[in-house]
Amino acid sequence: MPKNECTLAEQKILAARHAVDDLIRRGELRSNMKLGLGTGSTAMPAVARIAEHIREGNLTGIRAVATSFQTTIACEDLGIPVFSLNSKEISGELDLAIDGADEISPAKHLIKGGGAALLLEKIVAYNSALFVIVADSSKRVTTLGTRFALPVEVISEARVSVTRALASLGAQALLREGVRKAGPVVTDNGNLILDCVWKEAVDAYQMEEAINQIVGVVENGFFTRTSPIVYAAANTGIVERV
Ligand code: A5P
Repeated sequence: MPKNECTLAEQKILAARHAVDDLIRRGELRSNMKLGLGTGSTAMPAVARIAEHIREGNLTGIRAVATSFQTTIACEDLGIPVFSLNSKEISGELDLAIDGADEISPAKHLIKGGGAALLLEKIVAYNSALFVIVADSSKRVTTLGTRFALPVEVISEARVSVTRALASLGAQALLREGVRKAGPVVTDNGNLILDCVWKEAVDAYQMEEAINQIVGVVENGFFTRTSPIVYAAANTGIVERV
C-alpha cells in the first residue's frame, strides 16, 4: 500500500464520523429526533460519534432504535436511550437511520446483512424518513449478485424448500455456518441465513420482491426501495456524499 493511503478500517471510521458531523451541520440530524442505528464495523463508529455529541450537549432528546444485539449493547455502554420501534416514544416511525452496507450499486441499491442483522435493519430503514449509509471504498460496485453473497433470512423448517426455490431464481444458496459455534448462524430473531450468489449480475429491484414471495423467507438483504444518502470514504481519506 502506498504511503498516506488509508486502510479500509480507517476509512470506515472517517466515513462514519464525517457523516454524523455533516448531517448535524446540515440540520438533517437534530435534537429530539428518533434515530435508527445500524449494525457492523462502520455503523459502530457512527453510533459512537452520536454518543459523543449527546455527551457534549450538541444533541439532546435523542431516542434510538437499535437494529441488533450488537447495537443495543453499544447504546447501553455509550448511554444512548434505546426504545422498541413499537414503543410510544417511537410509534413505528423514525426521522433518520444510519447504517453500513456490504455493497452499493451506482443506482444506490444495496446488499446488507453481512452481519446477519438484515431483518431489523430493513424494518428500520424502510420506516425512516431519511436513510444514510456509511461505507469504505470497497463497498462501491458496478453490479450486484455475483460477488458479495446476498443473505436471505429463513425459517429453519423451510431451509431445504427455500434453497430449492432460490435455485429456480438462479441462485446458489449456502447455509451460513457459525464461527466459534457449532452449526449454523442463528439470527437475533431465531432464524437461519442462506447466502446466495448468482453466475450473472441480477436486477436487485426485481429480485428483492421475487425472493420475498418464497414461502419460508422472512426477508432478504437487497435494499432497493429506499434512496439512501451515501457517505463513502476513498483511500485518500476524503469522504464523498453521494
Ligand atoms: C449487518 O447485518 C450488515 O448489514 C452491515 O451493515 C453490513 O454488513 C456492513 O458491515 P460493515 O460495516 O462491518 O462492513
